Amino acid sequence: MRIIIPLLGGVALLAVAPTADAQVSPELKAQCGSCHALEKPANPTVDRLWSRKGPDLWYAGDKFNKPWLVNWLQKPTPIRPGGVLWFNHAKPGEPRDTLDTASVPKHPSFDTATATKMADALMTLKSGLVAPDLFKPEGANPQMGKLAFTKLRGCVACHQSAPGEGGLSGPQLYDAGARLQPSYVFAYTQDPQKFDRYIWMPRLTLSDQDLTRITAYVTSLGKEGAQ
Ligand code: HEC
Ligand code: HEC
Repeated sequence: MRIIIPLLGGVALLAVAPTADAQVSPELKAQCGSCHALEKPANPTVDRLWSRKGPDLWYAGDKFNKPWLVNWLQKPTPIRPGGVLWFNHAKPGEPRDTLDTASVPKHPSFDTATATKMADALMTLKSGLVAPDLFKPEGANPQMGKLAFTKLRGCVACHQSAPGEGGLSGPQLYDAGARLQPSYVFAYTQDPQKFDRYIWMPRLTLSDQDLTRITAYVTSLGKEGAQ
């Protein structure tokens, strides 16, 4: 953001206000910045997406549940079975390609103190794109959401709703209840290109009712006691 400070005599001085950059913790930058975007890319391009070494984390504070982060950073397990760019780990085959999951590198793991520190730092990274109360759970019908996810809206073509059930090109969502904040799921499903204009998840133009049902279903997955 630029603030124009008028000076006497009509001369204008441009002062650059502190950017998001100043808020990214130096430890996070040093340990994670080589693979993850921690600030919104000033100039998003398709090439950037194709050369990413890890998923974007500049909206981590809108996206993750902190307890999940603290656990996962100590014991990371795969979320995208083919890594961040699944096609780099595809094995051509008949009748369809399969994934060589063994060739996907393991995520670095951290001790409890570091994981907690990193999670705290990640939770401060907010995009301004997700209103915290965007998802309104009252009256949401997760069963209708399941139908939309698995049949009517085709999400399951790219996302797994249970281990081994669903496509592999998107992140698995059977852990979403633990991993993701409901309002983020709503906002991302509503308009993935709001987060990155070149991201390859299609924008499906869903009604608020559909989005509410789908969010209720997705965030019921992997939560204790959920169906
Ligand atoms: C060598 C590259 C590399 C480094 C360094 C790295 N990561 Fe990652 N990170 C990845 C990749 C690749 C994935 C995707 C893993 C998957 O989806 O299975 C990932 C996934 C994640 C996720 C889950 C993202 C999601 O969308 O669900 C979090 C959180 C994360 N990393 C945090 C960190 C933090 C914090 C650090 C530094 C302390 C870090 N990473 C360092 C490559 C890296
Ligand atoms: C053509 C494949 C495709 C379809 C269909 C699709 N997605 Fe996605 N989705 C993706 C990809 C790829 C990403 C990850 C983008 C990235 O790398 O950050 C994603 C990301 C997401 C995320 C964010 C998850 C995370 O870990 O950050 C959510 C939530 C999501 N999709 C929900 C849905 C829902 C709900 C539907 C159906 C209405 C759907 N998707 C349909 C490919 C798809």
